[in-house]
Amino acid sequence: MKAVVVFSKGHEVKVLEVPEPRLDTPGQVRVRTLEVGVCGTDKEIIQGEHGRAPSGSDYLILGHECLGEVVEVGAEVKDFQVGDLVVPRVRRPCPHESCAPCRDGHPDFCATGEYTERGIQGAHGFCAEFFVDEARYLHRVPRELREVAVLTETLTIAEKSLRQVQLVGQRVPGKRSAPGRAVVMGAGPVGLLGAMLLLRAGYETTMYSHAPKPNEKAKLTEALGVPYLSSEEHEVKALVEQRGRADVVYEATGAASASFRLVTALAPNGVFVFTGVPEAEKTKWDVGTLMKQLVLNNQVLLGTVNAAAEDFDAAVADLARFQGDWPGELNAIISARHPPEDFAQVVTGDKRSAVKDVIVFSRG
Ligand code: BGC
Repeated sequence: MKAVVVFSKGHEVKVLEVPEPRLDTPGQVRVRTLEVGVCGTDKEIIQGEHGRAPSGSDYLILGHECLGEVVEVGAEVKDFQVGDLVVPRVRRPCPHESCAPCRDGHPDFCATGEYTERGIQGAHGFCAEFFVDEARYLHRVPRELREVAVLTETLTIAEKSLRQVQLVGQRVPGKRSAPGRAVVMGAGPVGLLGAMLLLRAGYETTMYSHAPKPNEKAKLTEALGVPYLSSEEHEVKALVEQRGRADVVYEATGAASASFRLVTALAPNGVFVFTGVPEAEKTKWDVGTLMKQLVLNNQVLLGTVNAAAEDFDAAVADLARFQGDWPGELNAIISARHPPEDFAQVVTGDKRSAVKDVIVFSRG
């Protein structure tokens, strides 16, 4: 079968003929890949900055944001049938008995760092005509979400973030009438889906993103009813003057120093959520002023990665809600579909579209 791989030596990306996977255990499911989303993590893998091939393999099959269709189920699989649409989770637990989060079904909080991630860390991904996975790592998706369900994994990042923001918020005494204000930094797919989630949770939401208007992402943002301010045209001070301080900042850019500048926009008791994985970047920073601000305002800087089963379930349910609220905008996040042969050019930028690029393996 056809697979998109990156070789560990030389980082060449290629469509390769690889053996088709078969069921090894009765708890597994064989899935035909329909679509795979491409994201910044794929770029880092291809540049050799992140990720690794499975041990014993000189290449990694790429792809971690996937929608597929079940074609075969093992004898012990009760929850899936041939023809079901499914989205797989990405991270798999480490082998250590002492790792409480992994043993508790939460490898997204793995404490040893020896987890694997399909398509990223030490395990082949989904950018192939077929893949096999344990049924317990799959989530069923209703047929009505066929055209947008490839966005599920991207939305899980926001689901896990919001869940943690709500947990952290419980430390603050007193009943609040509304969740407050949120600023989303970065109008890419992670940011746009994050903005939709924050809006639905009742936050008064603002988008703060690099590119000046007019541009596609700004248009999409404003169609949600969310004001868009360009960081090129508005300093953080101007953002605060116009929109007030934010109870939640949801960072979705992976741009390190630009993100830290936004910490000054945080309200007392606020939470700043970092989701991006940046490149190394040295900068001069007045850490005294930063620390003073954090301490005197009870603020939290929170890093978050990956997502758990409950976040995937929540994402599938919320995609259905978003489809009801903003059908056009949700569809428009997927701004181009490409054949597998285009993967490398999508990542390098030659064939990249305005928002989310998706690789199509099969129409099902
Ligand atoms: C993926 C996560 C993964 C992270 C780090 C992100 O792009 O969405 O599932 O944990 O990269 O590898």
